[in-house]
Amino acid sequence: MEIMFIPWESVEAKMLLQKCVVVLICVSLFWKIIRYMCDLLKVEKEPITILITGQIGYALVPMIARGAMLGPDQPVILHMLDIEPAAESLKGVKMELVDAAFPLLKADVVEACKDVNIAVMVGGFPRKEGMERKDVMSKNVSIYKAQASALEQHAARDCKVLVVANPANTNALILKEYAPSIPEKNITCLTRLDHNRALGQISEKLNVHVGDVKNVIIWGNHSSTQYPDVNHATIATGNGETPVRQAVNDDNWLNNEFISVVQQRGAAIIKARKLSSALSAASSACDHIRDWVLGTPKGTWVSMGVYSDGSYGIQSGLIYSFPVTCEKGEWKIVQGLKIDEFSREKMDNTAQELIEEKSLAKSCLT
Ligand SMILES: NC(=O)c1ccc[n+]([C@@H]2O[C@H](COP(=O)([O-])OP(=O)(O)OC[C@H]3O[C@@H](n4cnc5c(N)ncnc54)[C@H](O)[C@@H]3O)[C@@H](O)[C@H]2O)c1
Repeated sequence: MEIMFIPWESVEAKMLLQKCVVVLICVSLFWKIIRYMCDLLKVEKEPITILITGQIGYALVPMIARGAMLGPDQPVILHMLDIEPAAESLKGVKMELVDAAFPLLKADVVEACKDVNIAVMVGGFPRKEGMERKDVMSKNVSIYKAQASALEQHAARDCKVLVVANPANTNALILKEYAPSIPEKNITCLTRLDHNRALGQISEKLNVHVGDVKNVIIWGNHSSTQYPDVNHATIATGNGETPVRQAVNDDNWLNNEFISVVQQRGAAIIKARKLSSALSAASSACDHIRDWVLGTPKGTWVSMGVYSDGSYGIQSGLIYSFPVTCEKGEWKIVQGLKIDEFSREKMDNTAQELIEEKSLAKSCLT
């Protein structure tokens, strides 16, 4: 191959340079015209209707209306539901939504389950001083029984349901029982907040960006028996991925303090704020629905409370948090992960708590 050097000062070199500049300008103009034409022809997507219950909705709705849940080009219709004493406050939220002039918000805010495609159930009865566990369960079981019947009657047949209110796994189970025409794979509960908390703890410990940590797992119940597991988690490094256990290099911390900090994080926030974790719960609810609907990134899984099919020896028929990947609006439990003895015991303990909650819930219904 022969390489010709043209002296920079020569006339040919200057002409060649001029031609290149002209070609570049033409290509960029042409590209801009094509993009403009595409924008003009763009057909707006059909709006998706989302039901939100409970006061954490106040933190959740602006995120949804800004596209954090379903993407920046997905119009949404919001249905907000609360109990009578909260009606006035809900009116205020409606006024604020109008004032915020969100371009993705397509219709007026109404209170109903009608035709909802996605339901985020954050409304529930909190445990008050002096209340027994059974009393809280009984209150929530009747709330979820009634809301399940409303969804059964009015929601879209393929409605995706996310239960946030506690006891989240068991409330989801009740909802599944009383909304039989909603497929069981469409009823889930939120453990993504715990998953994100685990990512946050690892990122703080290693002083790395939280986006570089992935594949932690929350197994089981959204309660203090949950098992945050890092045995398959990795962090992105300059030369690939390093297992979190190797990077942290402190099994004692990972097997003790890390687990209890994640398990107790909700209580620590209530203690500090005197209110439950609204901002992070709303953000995690967005993450949960976004990944479920739009898919998880390749090579990454997330934690979701889903209907157990017996995977990893967990009794089928419980709503249990598993590692899942999502594609085309469907979740799939990640299979084949090696479970050591330490994990097995913790996974079974949290399953046992869910079995007990299930029978307590059943006794509240009879
Ligand atoms: N899964 C999670 O990660 C997670 C995170 C944060 C909070 N939570 C749970 O979410 C729930 C709500 O938390 P909070 O701090 O907003 O509690 P809160 O007691 O402040 O508010 C409960 C809300 O539910 C509403 N509500 C009660 N009964 C209802 C009904 N029948 N229909 C519709 N709405 C109803 C109330 O009016 C109120 O707005 C609690 O159970 C809490 O423990 C779960």
